[in-house]
Amino acid sequence: MAEETIDFRSIIELDSELNEIQDLDLLLERTLFEARRVVHADAGSIYVKQTVTEEGKPVEKLSIKYAQNDTLQKKLPPGQKMMYSVFSVPINEKSISGYCALNRQIIDVPDMYNIPGSAPYSFNSSFDQMTGYKTTSSLTFPLSTANGRLLGVIQVINKIDPDGNVVPFSGDDKFLITHFAAYVTIALERAYVTRSMILRMIKMSELRDPKETGTHVNRVAGYSVDIYDSWAGKNNIAEAERESFRDNLRIASMLHDIGKVAISDSILKKPARFTPEEFQVMQHHTEYGASLFDDPQSPVDILARDIALTHHENWDGSGYLSGIKGGEIPLAGRIVAIADVFDALCSRSVYKEPWSEENVLTEIRQLSGTKFDPGLIDIFFEVLPNIRQTQNLYREEEK
Ligand SMILES: [Fe+2]
Ligand SMILES: [Fe+2]
Repeated sequence: MAEETIDFRSIIELDSELNEIQDLDLLLERTLFEARRVVHADAGSIYVKQTVTEEGKPVEKLSIKYAQNDTLQKKLPPGQKMMYSVFSVPINEKSISGYCALNRQIIDVPDMYNIPGSAPYSFNSSFDQMTGYKTTSSLTFPLSTANGRLLGVIQVINKIDPDGNVVPFSGDDKFLITHFAAYVTIALERAYVTRSMILRMIKMSELRDPKETGTHVNRVAGYSVDIYDSWAGKNNIAEAERESFRDNLRIASMLHDIGKVAISDSILKKPARFTPEEFQVMQHHTEYGASLFDDPQSPVDILARDIALTHHENWDGSGYLSGIKGGEIPLAGRIVAIADVFDALCSRSVYKEPWSEENVLTEIRQLSGTKFDPGLIDIFFEVLPNIRQTQNLYREEEK
């Protein structure tokens, strides 16, 4: 019982830590990590309820957000993130996570390869077949708010006992995870509110400029954090600073082009390339954006101002603002510059088809040292697998 008492206290302490995380994606990632820690699970996945369009109709599904697996992670070189396939499952009785979401019920499966024939759901072993990992025990639980709204589902896999053996989850684990879910749901709801406020701001600019979509800014934010994580690792940035910077960066980078709301329609919605005069007007979106954060109230505001102002600065000093170059450009501005251009080239626009990834990468490489910070470009290529993963997470058709 002593061990359970300690774990229960750590859930309460966790509550205040989770409440410091503002960004939804980072909170989901951390929530999965902590859920696994609470019940000593080797692996797990977190899913969120998302509306996807299928055959022209909106359908609610569970989309995977993060997957973690200590056993597989240990086989990777330090600093490399584990890849996982991006998929979504229908909310129905056929899958364990779907059943859990539908019935808002904890599902405890001692052996995934021995599910009783009476159960409506079955286990999809394709991940095991692909990776050689053996999934045995699992505990799947819903994240639903006090008023019954489903946010998502967490599945923790393979409980490890003190001797390192995989064992079934216990009654105590179910008890702990129920309390854990209640705490994290409050933090998650708050992060959803923050995220939706930002996406509404983005939506405002999307109403003016159809290029600035929610998926574009989510991808830019994701790539930016991928680049920053690796940069921070190489520069020995302390864990606490790293955590808070990536949290602020994720939110602030979404707002990089928010100043476009102040640009006139005739320029913003022009279905062709800009004339030099129009381009000059367009350049002011950086200052307009920064001016929204003239009276910064928090570190995220300061970062949002820096990013809005400097995301078109060039490493060699030939950017929008005169006389700012190299390391004088804030790190976040240099990171978002790469993320934004990469995403723009990979995406369709009114005057161009998406470029092939090969051409995009050649272009990015060529601009290293002139447009982009060469050190960050090296990092960009190192973390390319993670960037592709982020790209898959936020595909254009999803809401
Ligand atoms: Fe911009
Ligand atoms: Fe952008």
